[in-house]
Amino acid sequence: MDGFTFCAPTKVVFGRDTIPSVGGHIAEHGVSRVLLVFGGGSVRRNGVYDAVTASLQAAGVAWEEFWGVQPNPSLAQVEAGVDKARAYGAQGVLAVGGGSVIDCGKAIAAGCFLDDYWTYVETRKLLQKALPVFTVLTLSGTGTEMNEKAVITNEPEAKKWSVSGLCICPRVTIIDPQVQADVPWHLTMTGGIDAMTHVMENYFRGRLADAATGFFHEETTLQLNEGLLRGIVQSLNVLQRDPAHYGARASLAWAACWGLNGLTVAGLSGGDWTSHALEHALSGRYPHIPHGAGLAVLFPSWMEEVCDVAPAVFARFARTVWGVGQSGGEAAGVAGAMDADPQAMRALAREGVAATRRAFAAWGAPADLSHWGVTAEDVPEMVRNAFGYRALGRLVPLNEEQVTRIFMRVL
Ligand code: NZQ
Ligand code: ZN
Repeated sequence: MDGFTFCAPTKVVFGRDTIPSVGGHIAEHGVSRVLLVFGGGSVRRNGVYDAVTASLQAAGVAWEEFWGVQPNPSLAQVEAGVDKARAYGAQGVLAVGGGSVIDCGKAIAAGCFLDDYWTYVETRKLLQKALPVFTVLTLSGTGTEMNEKAVITNEPEAKKWSVSGLCICPRVTIIDPQVQADVPWHLTMTGGIDAMTHVMENYFRGRLADAATGFFHEETTLQLNEGLLRGIVQSLNVLQRDPAHYGARASLAWAACWGLNGLTVAGLSGGDWTSHALEHALSGRYPHIPHGAGLAVLFPSWMEEVCDVAPAVFARFARTVWGVGQSGGEAAGVAGAMDADPQAMRALAREGVAATRRAFAAWGAPADLSHWGVTAEDVPEMVRNAFGYRALGRLVPLNEEQVTRIFMRVL
């Protein structure tokens, strides 16, 4: 198990009717003027806007509103938000929405201290300074509500790149799962799949320590990850039938929050993150493609490409997450002894990939890129774009031919 630093400084206020507390939390931080950042209007329909503004008023926090952040937020929106925050003299940012709104809010908070946001992103340095960020989450999946990242698309250059820094970690995040009761199934499902892939990007770097017992070097982290994955799968299965089920909404929200706050990568050498790089190349070029839906297509294709190289951990995943080879089909808590026969282990690993595809299909996720009109002609540019950001593949270093195959397999 590799050494690591774990720091998750966000205060999470979770549960029913927690939104009215947001103004008080902001005031406690000595902030009295905030830029309030929203998306396209879902918060007006579900009462969140009214609850947030009433709370700010009661706490004596003044605000200016910035509306219209689009899914896969753009650099132009960040720049407009920075102008507004500066003109208003905002002392903090309160982002109210899903991952796109929160990421745009984080980027605005940092952009207030930068001459040029994008030039800084291209330096790939950690952010050092930002206005304090507060969030009210309305859609679970990305994990941005409890982490130090923001992902913004420079549309003219088709570059969807992230930036990090503890200074943009939300100071306080409010999660009331009740406000997700009306989230349409396709958004619930793509959020859940996004959260699963955050865990899986890390999970497959687990290394078998002892084949006789099935013990892995990173056993604790792997078991936490398996628990999160099973929790997400079971929550999605319930929500597909019963969208307003509070327990399932709450379980999914809590798992997604932990999916990308540092817990799931602890000891796992930074995870792999190829699929996210490929998805960002995809939705950087086609901003109408939802992030989680792109991952539903690309992640299984990446698994198929690499599972033979680390069959032990893929076989373990098949058993513990999907219950493949377990009596009664129930997922087991621990992997158990590993199969000594390498061929059998590889077959089990592949069954895990197939089980992932089956579950995504049963939830109605898209299975190929032609769903959005992407063709083979688009692939070389997306491959170039993905390699333009960083080297790909920590579990298995990938070359252009392999990355091309990952895209082509799902056309
Ligand atoms: O804009 P509004 O009207 O609010 O509608 C949104 C949007 O149309 C709607 N929505 C949100 N809450 C709702 C709701 N509809 C009904 N009821 C509610 N309670 O959902 C639509 C999609 O919202 P969006 O914020 O785009 O989705 P998501 O949360 O999946 O965020 C995706 C963005 O996050 C980035 C993605 O790349 C993408 O840009 N990510 C951020 C990460 C991070 N910062 O750590 C990591 C992720 O891997 C990801 O890259
Ligand atoms: Zn993601």
